[in-house]
Amino acid sequence: MSTPADSTVANPPRPPWWNEAVFYQIYPRSFADSNGDGIGDLGGIEDKLGYLELLGIDALWLSPVMRSPMADHGYDVSDPRDIDPLFGDLAAMDSLIESAHERGIKVTMDLVPNHTSNQHEWFKAALASAPGSVERSRYIFRDGKGENGTEPPNNWPSIFGGPAWTRVTEADGTPGQWYLHIFATEQPDLNWNNPEVFEDLAKTLRFWLGRGIDGFRIDVAHGMAKPDGLPDHDWELNELMRNSDDDPRFNNPTVHEIHRGIRKVMNEFPQAMTVGEIWVRDNERFGEYIRPDELHLGFNFRLAETEFSAESVRAAIDNSIAAVAAVGGTPTWTLSNHDVEREVTRYGGGDIGTQRARAMAMVELALPGAAFIYNGAELGLPNVELPENALQDPVWERSGHAERGRDGCRVPLPWEGAEPPFGFTTAATTWLPMPTEWSTLTVEAQIEDVDSMLSLYRSALELRASTPEISGSDIDWYGSPPGCLAFRRRGGLICALNTTDEPIALPGGKVLLTSAPLIDGQLPTNAAAWLI
Ligand code: NOJ
Repeated sequence: MSTPADSTVANPPRPPWWNEAVFYQIYPRSFADSNGDGIGDLGGIEDKLGYLELLGIDALWLSPVMRSPMADHGYDVSDPRDIDPLFGDLAAMDSLIESAHERGIKVTMDLVPNHTSNQHEWFKAALASAPGSVERSRYIFRDGKGENGTEPPNNWPSIFGGPAWTRVTEADGTPGQWYLHIFATEQPDLNWNNPEVFEDLAKTLRFWLGRGIDGFRIDVAHGMAKPDGLPDHDWELNELMRNSDDDPRFNNPTVHEIHRGIRKVMNEFPQAMTVGEIWVRDNERFGEYIRPDELHLGFNFRLAETEFSAESVRAAIDNSIAAVAAVGGTPTWTLSNHDVEREVTRYGGGDIGTQRARAMAMVELALPGAAFIYNGAELGLPNVELPENALQDPVWERSGHAERGRDGCRVPLPWEGAEPPFGFTTAATTWLPMPTEWSTLTVEAQIEDVDSMLSLYRSALELRASTPEISGSDIDWYGSPPGCLAFRRRGGLICALNTTDEPIALPGGKVLLTSAPLIDGQLPTNAAAWLI
């Protein structure tokens, strides 16, 4: 017989499911279309759950599927507690959650608390109400500067280009106040000093958690709180999805109060998690977001920003681990998402880009912590150079056509067949055009080819789930020649990466998996290996 104390020793509490989970990010417009309108939807995702199970992922992250006029493809939410008809309805979401759970796959979804759509009932009411009204106090309305208020209230730019302020026409037809939108005009920022804003978010959290959602990816988790007085700033950097740490639009200290409030609601559902989008470079400030009473996980984008060089990759890994170590948090890893160039293209494109993306997938999946795979990465899809008339990202218009925006990484996935739309839809056209060259990259073309990117991902994920040596929350670095790196998980897995122009000798051990065939027992250039 064992005492309770004994059984604690024998069975230490299991770490939460997200600590080592592999998340698969679905950009719903682009994954699979079930109703033949050329745009992906929830039914399409449910139809492909068998594929996702075969791939071996643990959890889905769905980019926004809530009701939205789609000015920023769902990141402009007009009703956070409903599904947009483009993607289906609440019944389709319930069905997806249930079917995913039957297959052991968790479902997490995007939550957009920094702003709403300008078509949200609150914003419509704000426009119809007078300056200083309760309705306006849910957003950030200010009088303009200069004679007759013709100048914006401060000099902040929008992340998507142009000013972060838009002037409204008052109910009597006169030019009126300005409202703040850090992103597009259609995405007014909420006023997080108004308690009603948090109360509504809490309602949204409970609404989806009660329907069985396993967690949330929190959009612009370093946003929301704004500094008192909204001071002007000396702008040196205002790039898409990048900002400096002194940017007054982000990372204001009171944001942590908001995260603590969110966590209290999440604690009512202990099996559910949050992961925040946190563009904060300073590790100490980054770590603050994942203190035990705030977010469960924080996205670290260092790997997604890093060039293919062993030194840079090692620095990114060290940095990401250090960012969470101080607060005892779990590292996260990602090579790409719907906002950045796909890794095959980022690493040089063509065969070289593909070889490097294969190697980096193995590095990512060998690391301790949670990994995020962006849909299509497992097929080795490159970014697509789309014709200008196809571009839809608001960035294209707002930047005065200076920036093409993010459409190139959002092209629909190719499933089967020899020509577009490659089984993505039964419609003749897709919301973004698909390149004819993708016939070799379809799931059908790759699934039985042992040398394909898809097979590499499947093998790596299967090994990750079944190899006892792929464990331990720390890594140790091996000494390695310039241009190479090798680390060892405490459980025993060794991962080596060669970014030089020559094959290199591998550390001793049994080879489990390589991203390219070894050459006389050596690791070729642009390749990685796992050994135990
Ligand atoms: C970050 C999201 O990832 C991006 O796609 C979106 O445009 C902005 N937040 C605004 O919500």
